[in-house]
Formats: sequence, structure tokens, C-alpha cells
Amino acid sequence: MKRLFCVAPMMKKTDKHFRFLCRNLSKNSYLYTEMIHCNAILRGDSDKLLSYDQCEHPIALQLGGSNPKDLGEAAKIASAYNYDEINLNVGCPSKKVKSGNFGVFLMKDLPLLQSCIYELTNNTSLPVTVKCRIGVDDLEGSAFLNNFIERLIGSGVNTFIIHARKAISGLDTKRNRSIPPLIYDEVYKIKQNYPDTEIILNGGISSYKEINNHLTNVDGVMLGRKVYSDPSFLLSVDNNIYNEQSSFSIDQALMSFMEYILKLENKKDANRAIGHLMQFIKSLSIEKQKRKILLDELNNKNVELTNVFENFTQDYQKNLSLNL
Ligand SMILES: Cc1cc2nc3c(=O)[nH]c(=O)nc-3n(C[C@H](O)[C@H](O)[C@H](O)COP(=O)(O)O)c2cc1C
Repeated sequence: MKRLFCVAPMMKKTDKHFRFLCRNLSKNSYLYTEMIHCNAILRGDSDKLLSYDQCEHPIALQLGGSNPKDLGEAAKIASAYNYDEINLNVGCPSKKVKSGNFGVFLMKDLPLLQSCIYELTNNTSLPVTVKCRIGVDDLEGSAFLNNFIERLIGSGVNTFIIHARKAISGLDTKRNRSIPPLIYDEVYKIKQNYPDTEIILNGGISSYKEINNHLTNVDGVMLGRKVYSDPSFLLSVDNNIYNEQSSFSIDQALMSFMEYILKLENKKDANRAIGHLMQFIKSLSIEKQKRKILLDELNNKNVELTNVFENFTQDYQKNLSLNL
């Protein structure tokens, strides 16, 4: 199971519905859940939070938190769900994360982070990986990152996903994904210094040309916003990255995702999935007017979903045969 191409964890985006869509476009892409805080697992409906469709493998669970015991307990519960990996979020800079002193703020407290890793690895037999940044605030530069990675390797971490920009405390989450400059070289250097450790590069990647270039320097890449804004990008992953003939098509993925939505019993789930469908449709080359009609109908709570999908499918297929 290779992490050559990973789809980034994204809150409110990479839920199980979006991951189902991803899996209908690429067999090999390595998927990540949204971050789930360990307290949510310990105090909330853990089964609802942790269950997923077996088709989603390979799939990693991303945990957030900074209380080592709580993280360990959450990992123990999660172990029963057969994930391929447990990943700790050490990269998120949001205000909420800062007040809870987790996410990227763990980069400032190595002993605490090492205790978290210790409890995670002691409570699960799954690989425990870390998603971090190249630095945070004034903690930056090669010497800092080297020491950080080396200490965590010493704690038993063999796989790092590194977002190649540092985080800045005062910036909001969105700007923290664009303002600090991307320094891919810092990540390449980590791979050179620790050749036996798996290094996955993340941040600002949006084309196969860039991916192939990065893959000559690191073990894998992780893409977030590109995949969400254009899920059909995944269609070439199996072929281009894993050298495997792909049997998927946009039309099949579209149809099976519509069927999937119709089977969802819970309204909240259906609405979330419809949101992903709309995003998917927006990225396809469907005539603007037809796309608008569909999006309007999907937004209209009074229209029967089955009819909307049926009309759209008939129209879409007619169009396809005309274009053949
Ligand atoms: C809407 C959104 C939600 C995100 N949620 C998470 C998250 O839950 N956990 C995490 O580690 N990173 C999260 N990220 C950061 C991404 O995983 C990724 O590191 C970042 O977007 C940079 O990659 P990209 O340039 O390919 O998008 C989120 C990003 C976005 C856009």
C-alpha cells in the first residue's frame, strides 16, 4: 500500500461521502479522514465518527489532540475499525487548535508531542504517522526541522507528511495555507538526511508534471485543494502514478455517486454528499446552462431527488452519445 499519491485530510470536505466518490475515480489513491479530535471519540458517538465503507481502503484516520492519555485511548478504540494508519495532526494552525494547544502548536513542545506519540504507538498496532509543517513562527530552518524529525524518528515515527510552508500564529487558517512561502527544498533535504524514513510532500501541488518532479525527491505527494476543486483529477492517478490501467470513468463515478446519494437515509448525510456532487459537477465540462439547472434543482428542497438525477442522467447520456 503505497502513499505515492495521497488525498489530504480536509475538515468538512473529506468525509466518508467524498471519500466514496474518490474511490470511484481511483483505486490506489491513499485517503485520509477529516481530523477527528480524540475527545470527540472518547465522549461522542465514536461508532458514527469512525465507521466507513471498506471500499475506502487504503484509508488513514487523522486524529487531533494533545493529551497523550486521551489520544492513546482514542487510538485504542479506533484500532477496532481496521484503518491502515493513524495520523496525528501536527500542522493545523486554527484559533481553536491554538487554544487547545494541539495541531501545529505541538511543534513547539517536542516532549509533549513525543508523549503523544508514545501513547499512540502503545495503544495501537497500526502505523502511527505525523502530518506537520516545516516550522512554526520563529521555529524554522533546516536545523530546527532536522532536529524535530530526528527526535520523532527516535520516538518510532517512520512516515512524515510535511506541508512545505511554516505556520504563522496570527494568521487565519486560510491565509496560513497561502501566505507563508512554500519551500520544497526543506522537505527534499529531510529525505536526503533520513533516506530510510518515508517522506510525503504536501502543499500547493496541482499538476502531474509537478508530482512527477517531486517524486524524484520524496516518497510521495499529498494533494488537498486541487482534488477537492477537481475530483476528476483522480481519474489519471492509477495510470500516471501507480502504473496501473484504470477501469474508472467520470460518467460511471457520477452515476454511482448519484445512486449512492439516493440510498442515504439520513438527510444530513444526503445534504453533505449533494454538496460534494455539486462540486464535482462544477468541475466537469458540462454545458453551463445544464449545469445551472441541475445545481438549482439540487438546491430546491421541493424537487424529488430521484427525478432530478434521472432527468440529468438521461440528458447527460444523450449528450455523451452525441459527442461520441
Ligand atoms: C478546507 C480545508 C480543510 C482542512 N482540514 C485539515 C485537517 O482536518 N487536517 C489537516 O491535517 N489538514 C487540513 N487541511 C490542510 C490540508 O490537509 C493541506 O495540508 C493543505 O490544504 C495544503 O495542501 P494543498 O495545497 O494541496 O491544498 C485542510 C485544508 C483545507 C483547504
